[in-house]
Amino acid sequence: MTFETKKDVLDWYEKQPRTLSREFIGNIDWKAVKDYPLDEKFVPVLLYMRDVEALTDMYYEELRRTPTGKDPIIGKFMERWSGEEQTHGELLNRFLNEAGIETDDKWQTQVRRAVTNFYTVNNYLITSLTNLVGKRFTATHMTFGAIHELSTTQGYRRLADLANHPILTQILRGIIREESAHTHFYWSVARLELQNSAFTQKLARFIIKHFWTPVGSGAKPKEESDYTIATLFQGANGLNWIDRNVTQRIQILPGFDGLTKVSDKIGQIVAQHTIPDSRFQISN
Ligand SMILES: [Fe+2]
Ligand SMILES: [Fe+2]
Repeated sequence: MTFETKKDVLDWYEKQPRTLSREFIGNIDWKAVKDYPLDEKFVPVLLYMRDVEALTDMYYEELRRTPTGKDPIIGKFMERWSGEEQTHGELLNRFLNEAGIETDDKWQTQVRRAVTNFYTVNNYLITSLTNLVGKRFTATHMTFGAIHELSTTQGYRRLADLANHPILTQILRGIIREESAHTHFYWSVARLELQNSAFTQKLARFIIKHFWTPVGSGAKPKEESDYTIATLFQGANGLNWIDRNVTQRIQILPGFDGLTKVSDKIGQIVAQHTIPDSRFQISN
């Protein structure tokens, strides 16, 4: 589906009913979580994903200070989007609890507090720089968003396949549907914004090529981010997955022809980390 204007993209998004409705969540058989084994190597992955979802709030606050966040259409999308990401974090936390992994009641606050000072200062600088470039930075923001949403979706797909836990799969399927709608919004707006000028294309490509890092890295310790990526995408199969579902879809955007940044970065991380193929299960 291609859109002519940002307003059309927003109208489309707003017509999408929430997948993770009260009814969907009410139908999750939480008591059955313990009936199926969960390989413990996925616990840090689930915690990482939970934390990154919760940190969306912080990112949203930052973005609201920029011309991108002040765009009424993008602002409207982001209001609903950030709420949906919170639900994802909460569902993952509940799943962990039901699987016997205890977490603190105030985990969201702890995650925010643990964000490194470097990240906070760095982001402040980036936000200020963004304000200098003004609206012409929106294409870059939207492309970043498209890559983050695409890679997150693929991460959840891999997790569902590899963990092979029926209740987790059910939850992840719901989350994935919402992530796909987020991807479609970001990608479509990125496309429209990039079409505006050769300058926005060059700027976006330059920033992604030199500064893109996997979602959550920077705000969360690098080891945690690397562990998650290596666990989910190790092997030729995982890298092909990223290439097909993320890199090639970004390459279709105006000005992004031939850019292999995401595949290169993920490939590098996977090559540097070996995750033991233990099948040690959390005992029930
Ligand atoms: Fe999410
Ligand atoms: Fe998302």
